[in-house]
Amino acid sequence: MSPRTLTPAPATVVIFGASGDLTRRKLIPALHTLRCEGFLPPNSQVLGVARSSLLDETFRDQLFLGVQDYSRAKPGVCAQWNVFQDRITYLTGDYGDPETYQRLAERLTQFDAGAGTEGNRLFYLATPPTLYPTIVEQLGQAGLHRSPGWTHIVIEKPFGHDLESAHRLNEQVHIVFDEGQVYRIDHYLGKETVQNILALRFANAIFEPLWNRNYVDHVQITVAEEVDVGHRAGYYDQAGVLRDMFQNHLLQLLTLTAMEPPALFEADALRDEKVKVLRAVRRCTQSIRGQYEGYRAEDGVAPGSETPTYALLRLFVDNWRWQGVPFYLRSGKSLAAKTTEIAVQFKRVPHLFFASDEAQIAPNVLSLCLQPDEGMHLRFEAKEPGAGMRTRSVDMEFHYAEDFGATALPEAYERLLLDAMQGDASLFARADEIELAWSIVDPILADWAEPDAPALAFYEPGSWGPVEAERMLGEQGRTWHIGCGGHR
Ligand code: BG6
Repeated sequence: MSPRTLTPAPATVVIFGASGDLTRRKLIPALHTLRCEGFLPPNSQVLGVARSSLLDETFRDQLFLGVQDYSRAKPGVCAQWNVFQDRITYLTGDYGDPETYQRLAERLTQFDAGAGTEGNRLFYLATPPTLYPTIVEQLGQAGLHRSPGWTHIVIEKPFGHDLESAHRLNEQVHIVFDEGQVYRIDHYLGKETVQNILALRFANAIFEPLWNRNYVDHVQITVAEEVDVGHRAGYYDQAGVLRDMFQNHLLQLLTLTAMEPPALFEADALRDEKVKVLRAVRRCTQSIRGQYEGYRAEDGVAPGSETPTYALLRLFVDNWRWQGVPFYLRSGKSLAAKTTEIAVQFKRVPHLFFASDEAQIAPNVLSLCLQPDEGMHLRFEAKEPGAGMRTRSVDMEFHYAEDFGATALPEAYERLLLDAMQGDASLFARADEIELAWSIVDPILADWAEPDAPALAFYEPGSWGPVEAERMLGEQGRTWHIGCGGHR
């Protein structure tokens, strides 16, 4: 994860699936901000490819609405839109038709000569995943996997539906592109606070000595969402929460929390350490799957659907550092609040000489608050003022917005697009990492499909999930923390 010091060379960003939501809400707003902040060279080109027939002007007008709504750099403040949009063009084409790629090749050659993009190309696959193999193959057949400059390809999630399909997709991609050209995106890795896990652990001397089985009782990773499945029910009902959130985001958070310090701060050294964590994850034997009440009535959801919208996994990382320390990972839709946090709960003090009731003294918890109130809280005990010796839990807090200013945090896609253009793959998943993550998730899905699997646990929308999840922790002598907004 090298520091962002360089502006990338001018390039053409080719977005497949250009008429979709991701392009309008994330990609173009991020490129616009990069342009406004001087990270995108003015002669860079953006070429949208999609099946619907659109004029350049109509395409730009649609994108402008997205920029107004979602770009961190607002058009009213940054006056770059007019010059930026001149560099945005559209190509109508069928993804399976070789002619589309002939026309694409011609456009790219024109940009290289006319705009000076020097043969640098970033292909971005923002289409439905079923089209990835076709596009990759066609790019290869048209010879577009090589160029006089650099050629990188960004592949959106979901990367496969299970281990077998992810492996097949990796093979299909590797027929055309070298691994060094491939950038499998997980937008969680682009979040500043997710990267801050590494800064916290490895740029400070005080935490790392405690970051192991000798001092840590357990770790909780919570990614709670208030939203329900909304208009994505068609996709979601096929995927469910394990594929949608755990295979990627939650396991990424686990690797960053549990990994050893890499020997070098570069893509492969970092990813080697993450891969070691995934390899050490023991087969999961305790999990809970839930579904919010009313899910089955959503448009696009199959009647009687068994798709989980909530899951809790208890995982163990079988290595010297973490042996015996449970990692509780939970995520769900339609929960009480949107919050992403990692709570590291430390062991209780070994001996108490001033309190009669041990339960009065709460264990220390370090909560890394990844969103929405980015920062960190440390819960510790302090003496209550007055006679006697009673203690109370208090919080020491750090908030990004207070220390760095409210607008300081770049959007994940800004960072990731820039890194992909600069050739830094540290924040992207490597082929083996993706497959290992599937090999953790697949057996759980298989267990859940067994006839004797514990029944789906229903939960009330707006709650913290099924009562079974509460009970499971309780039975293990633990409670859930929402340490970033007051613990429960
Ligand atoms: C996406 C999932 O990857 O992440 C969505 O497909 C989920 O279902 C989203 O809502 C959550 O991302 P964020 O950045 O809002 O936490």
